[in-house]
Amino acid sequence: MSEANALTPLPEAMAEGAAAVEQILDEVLAAPQGHEARLFEAMRYASLDGGKRLRPFLTLECARLFDTPDSYSLRAGVAVELIHCYSLIHDDLPAMDDDDLRRGKPSCHIAFDEATAILAGDALQAIAFEILADSATHPDAEVRAALVKGLAIASGGNGMVGGQMIDLAAEHSDADVSTITRMQRLKTGALISFSCEAGAIVGRASDEARQALLHYANDLGLAFQIADDLLDVLGTAEDVGKATQKDEAAGKATFVSLLGVPEAQERAQLLIEQAIARLDMFGEKAAHLRAIANFVVKRRT
Ligand code: IPE
Ligand code: IPE
Ligand code: MG
Ligand code: MG
Ligand code: MG
Repeated sequence: MSEANALTPLPEAMAEGAAAVEQILDEVLAAPQGHEARLFEAMRYASLDGGKRLRPFLTLECARLFDTPDSYSLRAGVAVELIHCYSLIHDDLPAMDDDDLRRGKPSCHIAFDEATAILAGDALQAIAFEILADSATHPDAEVRAALVKGLAIASGGNGMVGGQMIDLAAEHSDADVSTITRMQRLKTGALISFSCEAGAIVGRASDEARQALLHYANDLGLAFQIADDLLDVLGTAEDVGKATQKDEAAGKATFVSLLGVPEAQERAQLLIEQAIARLDMFGEKAAHLRAIANFVVKRRT
């Protein structure tokens, strides 16, 4: 990379970022010989050739604000994407959301089997940290340690996994807006926030810039999950690439179940406007981060 600059239209810039992510994923998920080859097949099945690659794109664009080489931010973004892919494999398991379709094809446990899907998720998680700890991600060990720590917090019990627990606990409950907000911040917001923070870490951003990005990411992450919940109600499996109209049937507590469609849409839009306003200090360099915020609520997939 990279041909893209702040003036490149968002779809082209995202496609270019996604192609670079695909290449790194293909390299880091090279399958060994032997009985464990099936595990790598499942890891590759769930990670390659699919998804919007939103998280690595956020890392890439945040790091570009600080003129950081794409080679650092891409690897950091790929680590987040690997955690994301693992979270999707486990999220679809019968013990969780029991979903048979993901990214337009059979979920990992359907294409393989449940045990292989569990192990593929586990191994994707491990590889994410291996990538961050590798000197190719950044020459400074302190930067690498900050990335490892940040991703561990964002993905663990006080982050994505904790949010998934709240999601399950809140099924068929009368959860209020504050409980749902906390659940969304953890299950989806934490990884989206870290995607942006990783760009600030590799870019050695000032405290002020880092805070601005974290505020942006918080608003964006919440809006992103509201949009996901709206797609579950309003979208089709064909467009979205996963089964829709499932949250209500499963008794999921979401902003949509609590507030209804129009108010959830309004809330997502307000969050996006707020997110965009957080980027003022970055001027034109943040054009893609502004555009991606609008994309998050307008997307059909
Ligand atoms: C889906 O995330 C799961 C949530 C956290 C809501 P994405 O909508 O980013 O899924 P992909 O990566 O594009 O498939
Ligand atoms: C999942 O939220 C968030 C994760 C941590 C994977 P959802 O359960 O709403 O995601 P989808 O709709 O299955 O993609
Ligand atoms: Mg879920
Ligand atoms: Mg799900
Ligand atoms: Mg959903």
